[in-house]
Amino acid sequence: MPFPHTRLRRLRMSPALRALTAETVLTTDDLIYPLFVQHGTGLKDEISTMPGNYRFSLDRLVEEVKEAQDLGIKAVLLFGIPKQKDEVGSEAYDDDGIIQRAVRAVKDSVPDIIVITDVCLCEYTSHGHCGIVVDGEIKNDPTLDLLAQMAASHARAGADMVAPSDMMDGRVAAIREALDDEGFRNTPIMSYAAKYASAFYGPFREAVDSAPSFGDRRSHQMQPPNAREALLETALDIEEGADIVMVKPALAYLDIIRRVRERFDVPVCAYSVSGEFSLITAAAERGWIDRDAVMMESLLSIKRAGADMIITYFAPDAVRILTGT
Ligand code: PBG
Repeated sequence: MPFPHTRLRRLRMSPALRALTAETVLTTDDLIYPLFVQHGTGLKDEISTMPGNYRFSLDRLVEEVKEAQDLGIKAVLLFGIPKQKDEVGSEAYDDDGIIQRAVRAVKDSVPDIIVITDVCLCEYTSHGHCGIVVDGEIKNDPTLDLLAQMAASHARAGADMVAPSDMMDGRVAAIREALDDEGFRNTPIMSYAAKYASAFYGPFREAVDSAPSFGDRRSHQMQPPNAREALLETALDIEEGADIVMVKPALAYLDIIRRVRERFDVPVCAYSVSGEFSLITAAAERGWIDRDAVMMESLLSIKRAGADMIITYFAPDAVRILTGT
């Protein structure tokens, strides 16, 4: 019955009523904290495009991860900055590479936190592309073997989960096979299933110096107009063995998160990327928006759209708000 019988405002009249009727709840357990690691010692260099985020050397990374665990954060996602980049991204699959060392260091000192590693060549190649480049073309099939080697070497170092972000066709199957061959049958794959060729990655590429030296990523990452294709990508990744599927970016792709959630029953992760972080941070620095409020509303919206978990550079700050610490 309509007004005046029905008054939807009745259930909004107090904080307790609003809490009781909240349909979506964001918790500390939902958040994954991305971190950047570089060679050296005693280093904590702020990333100019992402204030409050740093390139950590191993020792400082371990401190940061400890703090994250003390806050209650359950998982971190690691990105590496190699000593030297080359045509084939050698350090990516070197057992003594930056990520492999970082995983060992973190698992040694903070064994309970889930360590997820990004699997992609673009941080390690001199041309900044996600695969082997021959005659100006990013080659799919020869890249698969390198990605599989990279994932296996992360697992050997102790990674709890690997997250391929390259968008080569067939990489989830190649990685699953490599992991299983080495006995890592219980190492899950979180695939960047619907990853768009997005301008929102700008600040990240500054952080790891991975902007392509020529061309762009549009021959492998998805084009923003497409939504049905995201479902195809996701279906294939699940068939190939993805345990968790990811949509990336998050805020401009909430419809994709929703559609993936409705279609598939595996856990869905959303990556709220660097550009999303930087937009909010920059506007807040100017005093134009309330940083904490916009941050929490954005994360909640991503959860409401259907994400089970969210990768966000805001993780520690969000947890401080959630837990009142
Ligand atoms: C690729 C990768 C990228 C991001 C995560 N993994 C960059 C890209 O595809 O160019 C972007 C993350 C962000 O913007 O926060 N290794």
